[in-house]
Amino acid sequence: MGQRIDFETLYNILREISASLHSGAHVKDVLDTIVMKSAEMLNARGALIRILNQETNQLELGAAYGLSDQYVSKGPIPREKIITDLCRQNRIIIVRDILNDPRVQRPQEVWAEGIRMIIDSPITYKDDVLGILRIYFDEPREFSEEELHYIILIAERGASVIQKAQLIEMQESRYDQLALQTEKLSAMGRMAAGIAHEINNPLAGILLFSSNLLKKAPKEGPFREGLEIIMQETLRCKTIIHELLEFSRSSVPKTALVDVNNVIMRAIHLLENEFRLRHIRLEVDLSKQLPKIIIDEHQIEQILVNLLLNAIQAIEEQGTVTILSNVTSDRRNVAIEVSDTGCGIPPENMSKIFEPFFSTKAKGTGLGLAVTYGIVQKHGGHVYAFSQPNQGSRFIIELPIPPDVHQGETRR
Ligand SMILES: Nc1ncnc2c1ncn2[C@@H]1O[C@H](COP(=O)(O)OP(=O)(O)O)[C@@H](O)[C@H]1O
Ligand SMILES: [Mg+2]
Repeated sequence: MGQRIDFETLYNILREISASLHSGAHVKDVLDTIVMKSAEMLNARGALIRILNQETNQLELGAAYGLSDQYVSKGPIPREKIITDLCRQNRIIIVRDILNDPRVQRPQEVWAEGIRMIIDSPITYKDDVLGILRIYFDEPREFSEEELHYIILIAERGASVIQKAQLIEMQESRYDQLALQTEKLSAMGRMAAGIAHEINNPLAGILLFSSNLLKKAPKEGPFREGLEIIMQETLRCKTIIHELLEFSRSSVPKTALVDVNNVIMRAIHLLENEFRLRHIRLEVDLSKQLPKIIIDEHQIEQILVNLLLNAIQAIEEQGTVTILSNVTSDRRNVAIEVSDTGCGIPPENMSKIFEPFFSTKAKGTGLGLAVTYGIVQKHGGHVYAFSQPNQGSRFIIELPIPPDVHQGETRR
């Protein structure tokens, strides 16, 4: 029988793992510590951790200690054989018959490696198996219940590490997506600016010549009608071009120190009829302690009208649109929130709604949110969208409070 583990050793190991877990060490380093310490603690040849990849359903190597590279470098293994047993019992499994136990994937190689016994401990979080801690021994030995319990304790630490790794990974992929999205929108902005400038001049020419012709056209008849349509459509193009230029941030904002609440009230005023005609309830809750901020009030009014119109259009029959203003908890931004109880946005559209020309409406231009994005960016702020199909949507715009105003606020 091998040497017994004493409680103090275990305690030190757990403490070491916890310390590295909280010190912000790399996940890989913490897993390395776990395999090394558990092998050492049990006087084993080596140990490895395999982590279950939820997508491929395979167990991938997380860390290894004391085993030959040749053995370790073999690819991932399917979860089924090993995990199902562990899951069912949710406890340690001891493999004594290396050559004949189905849990050993490559028995000949393991044998050649000089391994004569294996211990598998599940790494679980709640009821999910996240991975497996496998410890390899040169010769068979017995284990007390207590020792097995220690192994489980260490495997549980492994669970926290893997959880942390998965969390970090998720966050990183979210950042990547965000960066990609921002890059895409700014590329679209550059393209839009280019196109808009090119088209603006010919449009002005078309307008000039068609209005000249219109003056000479007979009062009635298809000739005048045709010209009028040409003018109308050209004007429509000009509006779109104008909005595209807003999105592409090529127009410089005319800023001043402004009370955002007044801008909100003006936007509401513009749409009052729209609310009344459609019987949509409007709730307004504006913070009285809002510091003034430096903005181009016409541009901010325009984006509020955009957001309110979208909210109105999202409501089929009855519903409520809410507009709020407040200061963010870090006191760095003024936040304006427009929410509605309308149709909501399906998840697959969430990444597209800020793209120019993305619209799900028969007569939409798809420029409202693109322009909103451009203007808010130009102001050094952020736009956030939250939505669930059939549960309504919420758009938050954060605009920075200038530092001196910010300081004045906190000192008071
Ligand atoms: N409040 C909202 N509720 C549901 N969908 C919305 C909302 N706001 C925007 N959307 C979705 O985003 C798309 C793009 O909006 P926008 O850029 O304003 O263009 P448009 O309103 O011309 O379609 C809309 O067509 C719609 O699908
Ligand atoms: Mg719109």
